Amino acid sequence: MPITEIYGPDDFANRPQGHLASSPRPAPAPTARALPTPSLGWTAEIERATAPLYERVKHVIPPIEWPLMAPTIKAINDLKKARGAVILAHNYQAPEIFHCVADIGGDSLQLAVEATKVEANVIVQCGVHFMAETSKLLNPDKTVLIPDSRAGCSLAASITGADVRLLREKFPGVPVVAYINTSAEVKAEVDICCTSSNAVQVVESLNAPSVIFLPDRYLATYVASKTDVKIIAWKGACEVHERFKGEELRAFREADPSVQIIAHPECPPDVLAEADFTGSTAHMINWVREKRPRRLVMITECSMADNVRAELPDVEMLRPCNLCPHMKRITLANILDSLLTLREEVTIDPALADRARRSVERMINLKN
Ligand code: 13P
Ligand code: SF4
Repeated sequence: MPITEIYGPDDFANRPQGHLASSPRPAPAPTARALPTPSLGWTAEIERATAPLYERVKHVIPPIEWPLMAPTIKAINDLKKARGAVILAHNYQAPEIFHCVADIGGDSLQLAVEATKVEANVIVQCGVHFMAETSKLLNPDKTVLIPDSRAGCSLAASITGADVRLLREKFPGVPVVAYINTSAEVKAEVDICCTSSNAVQVVESLNAPSVIFLPDRYLATYVASKTDVKIIAWKGACEVHERFKGEELRAFREADPSVQIIAHPECPPDVLAEADFTGSTAHMINWVREKRPRRLVMITECSMADNVRAELPDVEMLRPCNLCPHMKRITLANILDSLLTLREEVTIDPALADRARRSVERMINLKN
């Protein structure tokens, strides 16, 4: 059924002003634990040592670019061992990060689940800030680093903890589901989290006639189309996925009726109406692995198509795609810097973290 009601910041006259959930913060000063910068020249030894990694990305990184990346990749992989660190990377990270330095890659749900199993004392999160916060919530005693803490998310920035409290006042007793793309402050105010992999399952697990689902209006619309639970939504949107248009996809299909189109559920409904498959980033990747389409339009962030093409070069990827400027703040250079200086460390107030952790763990503990 369609979303029953939708709210946003302008709908609450008493909304506190001047606070953004995911505002950039200044980088902390370097710590005494900094290690010396390794030499980053291109040598025969580096060429030999990184040759197996280049094999993984040779279909998406031209040979002329590899000598510029390989020394930093080798330095990161050496430092990871020295620091006892693990690198978690989202599917939207560039191929030189995703395929060459990450220990674990995946969608938001996979990264959260994997974060519960990490044994290393240092986690470097290659993704956006809410992902690093989720890792910290699940590993309060470990050092969680994000190479650039300005890597935000338009969804996480669209809502605050105070907004959730206003919604609760308006709808007493109605359970609240927060997309994982929210700050720890928002997670602390809700009943349970979800990701795009499990949103419908999470909503239905609450056994309630109505659910407040925030902050993504388009994911809410998608969930509402798959369930009889009444969905009350928030007016947030992903600045990357909201830019796609159904007419663009129709043009691709007219040009080649055999083309396959797959889309992320953060896209508007007219885009999803044109898709052959809708799913989280991990579900999209699995779909491509299984179906091996000849020509594919992947309606999501650009690096994801590169990462899939690196693995499955026989699948011809057609653009369009949109870049997430926040995901792209993470680079080989700042990952190396993060490992050298142990910056920027993610910290969360312990009392708030205890409340936020509950909503993430409740999601992770849901039976499949
Ligand atoms: P996934 O959980 O599908 O990886 O999505 C995360 C995200 O930020 C999509 O824009
Ligand atoms: Fe946020 Fe959209 Fe970027 Fe994902 S792609 S991190 S939802 S802005």
